[in-house]
Amino acid sequence: MRSAENVAIMGETLAIDVITIFPRMLDGFLNESMLKRAVKQDAVRFRTIDLRDFTHDVHRTTDDKPYGGGPGMLMKPEPLFEAVESIRTPGSRVVLMTPQGRPFRQSIAVELAKEKHLIFVCGHYEGVDERIRLHLATDEISIGDYVLTNGALPAAVVIDAVVRLLPNVLGGDGSTIEESFSSGRLEYPQYTRPSDYRGMKVPDVLMSGNHVEIARWRREQAVARTMERRPDLLEQKE
Ligand SMILES: C[S@@+](CC[C@H](N)C(=O)[O-])C[C@H]1O[C@@H](n2cnc3c(N)ncnc32)[C@H](O)[C@@H]1O
Repeated sequence: MRSAENVAIMGETLAIDVITIFPRMLDGFLNESMLKRAVKQDAVRFRTIDLRDFTHDVHRTTDDKPYGGGPGMLMKPEPLFEAVESIRTPGSRVVLMTPQGRPFRQSIAVELAKEKHLIFVCGHYEGVDERIRLHLATDEISIGDYVLTNGALPAAVVIDAVVRLLPNVLGGDGSTIEESFSSGRLEYPQYTRPSDYRGMKVPDVLMSGNHVEIARWRREQAVARTMERRPDLLEQKE
C-alpha cells in the first residue's frame, strides 16, 4: 500500500545541494545509514558546496558588518547569489534555513519530497543579507523556536525527514504511513520481544492474533496519546 503522504515520483532521483561554509559538518551525516542507502538506490544525490569557493578575495570572505551598526557580522550577498546561480535550474527550490522561516513540519517534508532539486542555503554569524531572503530564496524554513550557530544542522534535519519519504528508501515496509504526524496524530505504543520483561507485560491484544482488534486498539491508543500530549494536532485535523 502506498500512502498519500508518500508520493515522490517513482524512479526519479532527487538532487539535493547544500551551500555552507562548513561542508565537513555534513559530509559524515550524508554518508551514513539511511541516507547512504538512499544514494546507493539512486533515490537521491547529494552535493555539499563550499561557499568560500564563490568568494573573490584572498581571505575568502563571506561576511561583513551590518549597515546601520549593531553586533556581529552578516553573510554577504555576492557569494551566495553566485553559488545558487551556478546550480539553479528553473524548477529548483532554494530553501533558506532561518529561525524566522516557516516552522518545519511533516507536511513540508512531504511537499519537498515531491521536488526534483532542492538547494539548501545555510546561514552563519548574525544571518544573511536581507536581499538573499527577498530575491534568492523560494522558501524559508525554521526547525524550531531556538537559535543555532549555523544552518548546517537545520538543513540536515530537513534532509533526513525528506529523504526517508522517498519511494523504497525505508524498504517499502509502510513504516512512514502510520507514524506520528502522517495522519495528524501521534503513533500508538509499540512493543517487541520479550512479551514479559521483569514483569512488564505486553498488552494481551497485541498477542491475540486478532488484527481487527489490534487495529482498533492502536487507533484508540493513538487518539488517546495525541489528546494527552498534543491536542493541537487533533484540532488542526478537524
Ligand atoms: C545565529 S543564526 C542567525 C539568527 C538571526 N540573527 C535571527 O535572529 O534570526 C545563524 C544561522 O543559523 C541558522 N539557524 C539558526 N537557528 C535556526 C533555526 N531554528 N532554524 C533554521 N535555521 C537556523 C540560519 O541559517 C541562520 O542564518
